[in-house]
Amino acid sequence: MKILLLGKNGQLGYELAKQLPAIAQLVALGREELDLTDLHAVAQAVQAHQPDVIINAAAYTAVDNAETDQVNCYLINAAAPSILASEAKKIGALLIHYSTDYVFDGSKTSPYEPSDTPNPINYYGYSKLMGEEGIKYSGSDYLIFRTSWVYHPDYGNNFYRTMQRLAKEREVLNIVADQHGIPNDARDLAADTVKLLQQPLAALKSTSGIYHLTAGLEAQTTWYDFAKTIIDAMPEKVCRQINPIPTSSYPTTAKRPMWSVMLSVMPS
Ligand SMILES: NC(=O)c1ccc[n+]([C@@H]2O[C@H](COP(=O)([O-])OP(=O)(O)OC[C@H]3O[C@@H](n4cnc5c(N)ncnc54)[C@H](OP(=O)(O)O)[C@@H]3O)[C@@H](O)[C@H]2O)c1
Repeated sequence: MKILLLGKNGQLGYELAKQLPAIAQLVALGREELDLTDLHAVAQAVQAHQPDVIINAAAYTAVDNAETDQVNCYLINAAAPSILASEAKKIGALLIHYSTDYVFDGSKTSPYEPSDTPNPINYYGYSKLMGEEGIKYSGSDYLIFRTSWVYHPDYGNNFYRTMQRLAKEREVLNIVADQHGIPNDARDLAADTVKLLQQPLAALKSTSGIYHLTAGLEAQTTWYDFAKTIIDAMPEKVCRQINPIPTSSYPTTAKRPMWSVMLSVMPS
């Protein structure tokens, strides 16, 4: 099996690039080899490599910047995945793509299911939803895995590592306590993807659709409680106090859903 992986330098892409060689012949590309804003090059890369599976772990993930950098965000999160899907269809490849809890507005109070109606409240969420739609309507075989609150303890920029850094710099931290979600370790997301790919490809293709890939409802938390867990486990820190604050006390350019908890639903 030949896999074309895009986004090899992201949190998830980095882990996939480490774990996939055990099960497949891997071609892994980063932005320097393939810029997803160059849609012609995206199509060419698929045709040049002729993979059995395309895994798209690349994305425009700067949620606040996306509000003002909409063209780039749309190209990367919506247009490029749609091109990947239509090129996948031409060669009969399976497309695996990752999406986000931010396609939902967060107004629910029970876990989101894949069949719930999306209603993004920021541009990043809108662009990811448009990526989902483009893939869905391409006619290709695809698996879209929505996930949430992705972190890697040892790699990249994420909440986990930011908390570890801040806990060494500041005695008091104020952390938002009214946004609910499920943190997901990129190592687990990659491992779940690799495990799934050990099934026969024809069987996987027959399960085409949108799924929710998360650590499970028992991992549900708030940013405040997640920060406490991370910092409590640190042997050396200067942080002595973590205060819970409401979202209204931490204004951001892009709105965030208050409730991001998704039920984990994977192909059976
Ligand atoms: N991070 C989260 O909390 C979160 C939450 C829910 C869903 N997701 C989804 O999960 C997936 C993986 O996210 P992640 O956290 O691993 O993302 P990440 O760490 O931000 O990595 C994204 C990767 O995409 C690459 N990229 C951005 N623009 C590109 C372009 N024009 N051409 C080629 N590559 C480009 C980046 O390249 P550079 O390294 O060169 O910048 C980066 O390596 C994404 O689909 C994301 O939407 C993430």
